[in-house]
Amino acid sequence: PSRAMAAPPSYARIPNIIVLLLLALSAISVSSSSSPSNGSDTDLSALLAFKAQLADPRRVLAGSWTGTSFCHWIGVSCSRRRQRVTALTLVDTPLSGPIAPHFGNLSFLSVLTLRGTNLTGSIPPELGKLCRLRYLSLDENSLSDVIPAAIGNLTRLEFLSLSFNQLTGQIPPEVFVRMQKLETISLEVNKLSGQIPPYLFNNTPSLSFIYFGKNSMSGPIPHGIASLSKLTYLQLQHNQFSGLVPQAIYNMSMLDLMILSNNNLTGTIPDNQSFILPMLQVLDLSENKFQGRISSGLASSHYLVGLSLADNSFVDVVPLWLVELHHLESISLGGNNLVGLIPAALSNLTSLTMLDLSGCNLTGHIPPELGLMQKLSFLHLGTNQLTGTIQASLGNLSMLSLLAFEENKLSGSVPSTLGNIASLEELHLQNNNLDGSIMELFSALCNCRNVQLINIGVNSFTAGKPLFTIGNFNSSLQQISRWTSGNNFKHKRS
Ligand SMILES: *[C@@H]1O[C@H](CO)[C@@H](O)[C@H](O)[C@H]1NC(C)=O
Ligand SMILES: *[C@@H]1O[C@H](CO)[C@@H](O)[C@H](O)[C@H]1NC(C)=O
Ligand SMILES: *[C@@H]1O[C@H](CO)[C@@H](O)[C@H](O)[C@H]1NC(C)=O
Ligand SMILES: *[C@@H]1O[C@H](CO)[C@@H](O)[C@H](O)[C@H]1NC(C)=O
Ligand SMILES: *[C@@H]1O[C@H](CO)[C@@H](O)[C@H](O)[C@H]1NC(C)=O
Ligand SMILES: *[C@@H]1O[C@H](CO)[C@@H](O)[C@H](O)[C@H]1NC(C)=O
Ligand SMILES: *[C@@H]1O[C@H](CO)[C@@H](O)[C@H](O)[C@H]1NC(C)=O
Ligand SMILES: *[C@@H]1O[C@H](CO)[C@@H](O)[C@H](O)[C@H]1NC(C)=O
Ligand SMILES: *[C@@H]1O[C@H](CO)[C@@H](O)[C@H](O)[C@H]1NC(C)=O
Ligand SMILES: *[C@@H]1O[C@H](CO)[C@@H](O)[C@H](O)[C@H]1NC(C)=O
Ligand SMILES: *[C@@H]1O[C@H](CO)[C@@H](O)[C@H](O)[C@H]1NC(C)=O
Repeated sequence: PSRAMAAPPSYARIPNIIVLLLLALSAISVSSSSSPSNGSDTDLSALLAFKAQLADPRRVLAGSWTGTSFCHWIGVSCSRRRQRVTALTLVDTPLSGPIAPHFGNLSFLSVLTLRGTNLTGSIPPELGKLCRLRYLSLDENSLSDVIPAAIGNLTRLEFLSLSFNQLTGQIPPEVFVRMQKLETISLEVNKLSGQIPPYLFNNTPSLSFIYFGKNSMSGPIPHGIASLSKLTYLQLQHNQFSGLVPQAIYNMSMLDLMILSNNNLTGTIPDNQSFILPMLQVLDLSENKFQGRISSGLASSHYLVGLSLADNSFVDVVPLWLVELHHLESISLGGNNLVGLIPAALSNLTSLTMLDLSGCNLTGHIPPELGLMQKLSFLHLGTNQLTGTIQASLGNLSMLSLLAFEENKLSGSVPSTLGNIASLEELHLQNNNLDGSIMELFSALCNCRNVQLINIGVNSFTAGKPLFTIGNFNSSLQQISRWTSGNNFKHKRS
């Protein structure tokens, strides 16, 4: 096996006669098929050992991996000059079985992709012997057990994805210390636990993409992350990370996307002097325990497309500088202690598709200007202290699928223009002081062919004359009567 890992001779420097001699000798060794002395035979037996352990229910390998010319087998690529496997790529092919440790003998392998292949068992530590490996993707399988520390020997690795498996345990403490070329590390959707080892990123200067979302990791976010000068994507969502976020993370010149949602993180976000994320496009800090004001430093993140700070303990107003961020498509600030008015100027954000300011302490009217946000599809302003009427202009929001103003102090009648919103699927107006005829409202909403849920309970609607037949509604609307209780209907028969 050590011979297989030795550097191959360069054919260019060897006289032709010797090459011919070598070819002749190897031909003899094949025909006699005595000892597996040449690396090509080792590759063949490694592939056959892999095949032998798999159920292969669709008989993909059974049909293709036959004979000895493995360079022509499905998924196998060889080097041009010699019969050695350089890449093995099988995607979305059920193989059902473990990865044979013999793979560690494929000493010329530089790409190993077994994605969506229903592999089970643990990752063999022998893979750490693949010293030429640059790309390792074992995602979307059912691999279990811990990540073997031996893969830390893959010093040429640039891409490592083990995501969507059932891997457990902690990330081995020094696994990346010798991977100076590593650019992408994806471990998302596994069952990894424990802390991120504090020095994990101390020798990975090329690292650009970190995906650790949806695991059970805990403890602090290590300071080393902030020293990764090429970091572009940082996804740590749905774990149990806690404590303060290293403040230097808010000063990273390349960071595009930072998703830290659904953790147990605390502390404040630094203000504009220390918050410098010029390339930021997506910031999601939702469902944590962040406090303090919303950093006005965000006003300088000119490329921001998505902002979610929902369900934290921020105390602020709805910041006016949001209006300067012309690329914004989604703003979610709900579930914080936001006070004051909803700025009418938000309507200048004409790319916005989602606005969620629910569950705050906002007061005043719903600005009629919001009707100018032509792309809005999700408008949730529920559970605030909003007063005044629902303005007719909101009927101009022709892309809206959810309009939710529940649990406020809105009064007056519901404008019939809401019936112009053909795409409307859900209307939540319960727990307000709205009045008018419920029959007129439903008559208007008859035009909304996609409506699935109308909740207008606990208001002051009157029954009114039946002006419509229920048959006009989409058949999936089944919840009217359940959601209209709590009004003072005076049942008049006409
Ligand atoms: C190794 O054996 C294969 C056949 O199994 C042959 O085609 C190849 O040329 C041999 N390589 C060397 C370097 O001997
Ligand atoms: C994956 O393998 C298991 C057995 O190991 C089998 O029960 C299951 O049906 C396979 N799934 C697919 C999608 O092939
Ligand atoms: C290849 O790997 C397996 C398991 O790691 C080992 O048993 C075998 O001896 C190795 N060598 C060859 C030449 O197949
Ligand atoms: C890494 O390789 C070295 C020698 O190449 C070996 O001694 C060591 O055991 C390997 N590490 C792991 C964790 O397998
Ligand atoms: C979150 O942190 C608090 C202390 O700040 C602790 O009591 C709680 O158990 C933590 N929750 C989780 C899910 O880790
Ligand atoms: C910080 O933000 C505030 C409010 O947006 C602004 O008045 C101030 O000039 C900013 N300071 C710096 C240094 O940018
Ligand atoms: C932000 O990072 C740059 C470059 O790493 C550094 O020079 C600067 O001092 C940092 N600014 C703050 C406020 O930390
Ligand atoms: C709204 O304000 C009240 C009183 O100041 C406070 O008790 C409540 O927690 C606030 N709501 C939110 C969501 O912060
Ligand atoms: C939208 O922006 C323009 C100029 O940038 C400004 O004059 C106008 O007042 C803004 N609209 C609102 C509703 O604030
Ligand atoms: C929006 O709706 C209002 C009232 O329904 C109407 O007067 C106005 O012309 C509409 N504006 C646009 C831009 O369609
Ligand atoms: C009912 O609503 C569904 C989902 O929005 C939509 O796909 C379907 O076309 C609608 N049916 C009719 C008759 O409009």
